[in-house]
Amino acid sequence: MTSTASSRQRVAVIGLGGIGGAAAGALTHAGRHDVIACGRRPLERMRVDLPDESVEVAMTVLTDPADASPVDWVLLTTKAQDTDGAGAWLRALCGPDTTVAVMQNGIDHAERIASYAGGAEALPVIVYYNGERIADDHVRMRHISDADIALPDTDTAQAFIDLLEGTPIQAVRAPDFTARQWQKLLINIVVNPVTALTRQRQGVLQREDIQTLTTALLEEAAAVAEAEGAGLPASVAADTQRLVLTFPHDAGSSMYFDALAGRRLEAEALTGAVVRAGARHGIPTPMNGAMLALLRALSDGMGT
Ligand SMILES: NC(=O)c1ccc[n+]([C@@H]2O[C@H](COP(=O)([O-])OP(=O)(O)OC[C@H]3O[C@@H](n4cnc5c(N)ncnc54)[C@H](OP(=O)(O)O)[C@@H]3O)[C@@H](O)[C@H]2O)c1
Repeated sequence: MTSTASSRQRVAVIGLGGIGGAAAGALTHAGRHDVIACGRRPLERMRVDLPDESVEVAMTVLTDPADASPVDWVLLTTKAQDTDGAGAWLRALCGPDTTVAVMQNGIDHAERIASYAGGAEALPVIVYYNGERIADDHVRMRHISDADIALPDTDTAQAFIDLLEGTPIQAVRAPDFTARQWQKLLINIVVNPVTALTRQRQGVLQREDIQTLTTALLEEAAAVAEAEGAGLPASVAADTQRLVLTFPHDAGSSMYFDALAGRRLEAEALTGAVVRAGARHGIPTPMNGAMLALLRALSDGMGT
């Protein structure tokens, strides 16, 4: 595990989108650590709209992994499907004492980075805050719930919480981390695929025929979650269905916006995770399997 975060640490943030831009900007503004960002374009300054203030920060941005060397902390904030593309950054930035905070959706965080991160430890992070890239040099962070991120209940998680001190990113150690991961995954395997495949905002979830589909997706996923030991209530599928119907009709979703922009989709980390876990436990997931086939076909037809 990375040593105490009360000392000055070397931090690298891979990806400067909504989540990474906000994290890199907040950490740089707090000024307690040496922060570099790893991006695909040079950038010298960034405006960061934090929940209580808008700040402009001078950034140190690398664009070539050959210029990087091992750091204490890596924050991996690309979309999950871009993890392979970020592999060269992980190889350059990870040493035996590095911890990689994987700030991505899904449940397979450690497996996703294992082949790139050498002996580095993976810290899975559930991201709750809203991060929006307004321009290449402008991001906005908004609190969505009491906690901005949830972490496993471990010493490594505490070191990450210490690292974030002085930033507005509120983190909790969650003894029910697996339950939270699955709770979020259940929402994500409904809202993201349906909006991306129909190219319609979340109002589409109100349709009766779509509700029949989403109920089936959720019931399959709930059975898999139970086999994974998530410890969710028996009513979780119905509860999630009711919850997503309360979401604003005009809201999009991350996968919806990626589909509209012609970007590859976070399908394997979301729907794919349910299908893979179902296969591990011998639980059939035909409806999620069908969604995954459609998402793969759509994603493979995208440019980036
Ligand atoms: N945004 C949210 O509110 C939110 C909330 C909860 C969870 N999440 C999850 O958080 C994760 C990050 O989402 P996001 O919304 O921040 O995504 P995003 O806005 O699309 O940002 C991803 C960033 O990664 C960069 N990137 C991709 N490949 C790279 C590479 N090889 N080297 C360097 N940078 C690379 C992209 O660069 P380019 O600019 O060059 O494309 C982009 O800046 C996802 O798993 C998402 O599902 C997001």
